Amino acid sequence: MRRHFTFVLKYLVPLLVLVVLMIWVIKRWKVWFGNPPEEPYTALSCPDRVLLTFGDEKEENRNVSWQCDSVVKPSYVELVSLTDSDTMRVEAQGEVFQSRCGRAVYYVARLRNLKSDCRYAYRAVTDTLASSWYHFQTYPVGRSSFSFLYVGDVQDTLYGQANRFLREALARHPQSEFLVCGGDLTERPADQYWTETFRDVDSVAQAMPLLTVTGNHDYLKGLVRRLERRFTLVFSYFLDSEVGRNQVYSLRYGSAEFFLLDSNRELPYLLTQRRWLEKRLQESQARWKILVLHHPLYSLKGWNNLVQRWVFDGLIRKYGVDLVLQGHEHAYARMTNIDKKLICKTTPVYTVSHCSPKNYRIRFDKRFDKFGISSRYYQTVEVKEDSLVLAAYEVYGHQLYDSLLIVKHGAGEEGHIIDLGQDIPEYLEYVPNPHKKKDLKFAKRIKEYQKRKP
Ligand SMILES: [Fe+2]
Repeated sequence: MRRHFTFVLKYLVPLLVLVVLMIWVIKRWKVWFGNPPEEPYTALSCPDRVLLTFGDEKEENRNVSWQCDSVVKPSYVELVSLTDSDTMRVEAQGEVFQSRCGRAVYYVARLRNLKSDCRYAYRAVTDTLASSWYHFQTYPVGRSSFSFLYVGDVQDTLYGQANRFLREALARHPQSEFLVCGGDLTERPADQYWTETFRDVDSVAQAMPLLTVTGNHDYLKGLVRRLERRFTLVFSYFLDSEVGRNQVYSLRYGSAEFFLLDSNRELPYLLTQRRWLEKRLQESQARWKILVLHHPLYSLKGWNNLVQRWVFDGLIRKYGVDLVLQGHEHAYARMTNIDKKLICKTTPVYTVSHCSPKNYRIRFDKRFDKFGISSRYYQTVEVKEDSLVLAAYEVYGHQLYDSLLIVKHGAGEEGHIIDLGQDIPEYLEYVPNPHKKKDLKFAKRIKEYQKRKP
């Protein structure tokens, strides 16, 4: 009997565990390692997919990227200052990118020494062919007041509605000077999804700088995940800022400094980013510090992203980061800190947001102040001297969903928070599929949360 028991324990149990593990890996193989196929494509023979973004760490600089044909040709940006009709030609660098099912040349022109507070017209030119004319505005450097718009994951379905929402958001908030995205702007790294991304940002990303971080959907899956060069060529500020093949970037803009991280990477890369971030935070003289990364450091789905939290959260608190803008978990959530006397809400503020048609089943962690699970959202951030107002809106009807005011008087100080959003009702509409256990459990969690919330 005893020999039999030892045999079971020594051989059968490990074998059973191994078989269960194998079944699990086989079932999850496509999710973990598979990529949807890329449809064969041919790049247009005239400049296409024009995108305006920031250039380097200086707020006055801009980059313009575009795609054209599959052979490198002489290319430039034609730039006209509308103040004095000065016309300039800024040469562009072209690079051939071969993806899984096609080949295209990506160009980047670095616009430097732009005039402050000036409206410009520009177009991308390759060989003898030009894009449409676009316009953008520069602003006086180092202002203590400015606004921008933030969206979490967009990942729109093909022929989706994101472009409509973005245009409406900007029409309602015309003071926004640039757009920040929390990663996963593109559903998957395949040309057909990039086409959708450019439909999403059409007329937006040509008129104001678009900044994004990398999301997991921006990576090609495999045993080793890989970021395509195409991503860096489009969001071309990374070309000059990446550190040890990490897509990191910092930008001083007015009285704020932005720090963009790549939270998708493995631990050694995250540690390199940590060293970079610490140095940048130590050197920063900005009153407002804003960090953008894809994975929420305090997950809405349980025990996720603990490595990222372990690597970055200490620095966020030590160096007084005010705002952490995140995405990935396809819900809205906002978490504030509480002071040592457990009385006042203080910085850092962590927010998660998304503007995608997909909503995820989250957990309602008690540390968060507010959740949204039934809509798509965008946020406005308005910096005015010693105050910063963060507001979240639903894209349907553009209703105000959440808002808070941060007040701080100096760069090193902790920001005090006035919660303007606590009286705005949470909208937690959810219709479960009665045949799906996970849906039913989520519906139960929502009810439990609503009961316990004061
Ligand atoms: Fe994601």
